[in-house]
Amino acid sequence: MARSYVIAIASEKGGVGKTTLATNLAIYLKGLSEDLPVTLFSFDNHFTVDQMFQLNKTTNPHHVGHLFSGVNPAELLVDGQYGVDFIQSSRDLFAYQQHVKNIEQLAQVISRSSLQGIIIIDTSPILDIYTRNALYAADRIIVPIKDTPSLENCRNLAGFLAENKRSKSVLKLLPCLIDTRIHFDGPFRNSYQLLKAYAINRGYRCFEGFIAKSPKVESLATNPAGKVYPVITHGRNTEVHLQLTHLARQVYLDYLEHGPVRINEIADNLYDQEEWFLKEYNARIGNLQPNCLFCDAPILKNDIWPPTYFLENETGRFSGFIEEDCLFTLLLQDCYPELKGKKQQRLLQEILGSTTHRTFLLLQKNQIDAEQAQIDVFRLDQQGDRISGRSVILKNQERPYRQDKRNLLSLFDLAANGKKSDYQQLLIRQSASNPLSILEQQNYLEWKTIFNRVQIDQQLDKNT
Ligand SMILES: Nc1ncnc2c1ncn2[C@@H]1O[C@H](COP(=O)(O)OP(=O)(O)OP(=O)(O)O)[C@@H](O)[C@H]1O
Ligand SMILES: [Mg+2]
Repeated sequence: MARSYVIAIASEKGGVGKTTLATNLAIYLKGLSEDLPVTLFSFDNHFTVDQMFQLNKTTNPHHVGHLFSGVNPAELLVDGQYGVDFIQSSRDLFAYQQHVKNIEQLAQVISRSSLQGIIIIDTSPILDIYTRNALYAADRIIVPIKDTPSLENCRNLAGFLAENKRSKSVLKLLPCLIDTRIHFDGPFRNSYQLLKAYAINRGYRCFEGFIAKSPKVESLATNPAGKVYPVITHGRNTEVHLQLTHLARQVYLDYLEHGPVRINEIADNLYDQEEWFLKEYNARIGNLQPNCLFCDAPILKNDIWPPTYFLENETGRFSGFIEEDCLFTLLLQDCYPELKGKKQQRLLQEILGSTTHRTFLLLQKNQIDAEQAQIDVFRLDQQGDRISGRSVILKNQERPYRQDKRNLLSLFDLAANGKKSDYQQLLIRQSASNPLSILEQQNYLEWKTIFNRVQIDQQLDKNT
């Protein structure tokens, strides 16, 4: 499957010409090869891309934020002017940040999509999660440099690549906004030559040539029509036109020579990873006890799955669900004996928040001596901090055993694999609609992470 070659335009310095470069490069590339699909989008919070490429008012409701929320990227594309496809910009990417889980997400989304040709991503001058996603996905990162500070800023981009075990040669610098009227004495006669020498001296690759500062180009973004005009149509008689043509040729040759290496690499890793995730998922399904861990009755009744709590013992080889009704019966019996009457369960649900979407319940046993143990039952928030609950002392001989098989301590025994010492268990409520979702890699790891954090906190508490 043909995949896309991703170019990110990045610099932590603002106003160096990133957006001007990204938008114009898209058009010049299209000019070099009409059949080459070119897609453009921007993680900046202004609408230059839209102002330059929008043909008519589009009915497409999507924008770049939706790249991270599971919408197929092909559905995000809008047919733009000059044959360039674009994704509409967003004013409020910050609000969508919750969907961006890691820096690999964009690369994975692109690798699963049908997008082809060249994708150009304009970034904001901040190394935020969106910029880092763009950098991670990129075959080529073009860095406009207009002065020494913007050159110094490349260090963080190189650092990002090093952290992700990628070569610094992914970066290619381009002197931009060069004032060709300024001349120096000595070996470097102008700021272009000086910047290029500095860049090479610091081990960076550079494109041939530069982009000059041109009043005509600057004026293309300011006109009564509220449009942003491209250099190719409105600045053909400037030197920037020739410079962009030369740059586009270099980029195109790079693309022809190397192709979409990065996204192929991501796709291969993803394939291996997904195979592995599936294996892990199946193993977890295999370890699941078929019935309620408390009452041992089948959980599924008349094809209906009631609310349950998932638990897994220390070895990870024993896991299952306890019905919420069963768990609350246990808790009422052992921890909240004063709650009697009809409304008791509802009250307990309020205390332990079991009606909220993702509820974590911490059950914790601290053996005081051979006779008694302290039992903590706490509802935790998404970070693992305690919200509500209580601690009770249960004496071994005073355990209010039920007629049927188990009480809270025996649930601990079961989960602790017969181990009698202190023990913690983090239960997570599973909704009836998708009870097995906890076994999926992402959810399972999130649950594990919180459980680990809770265990570390408990250990620290004990040591202090
Ligand atoms: N070659 C050029 N000649 C003259 N002006 C230019 C040139 N390239 C860009 N500009 C102008 O410089 C300003 C900054 O350019 P641009 O918005 O492309 O930079 P940016 O790096 O994307 O900025 P930001 O970091 O704020 O996103 C704009 O007003 C733009 O019109
Ligand atoms: Mg910009």
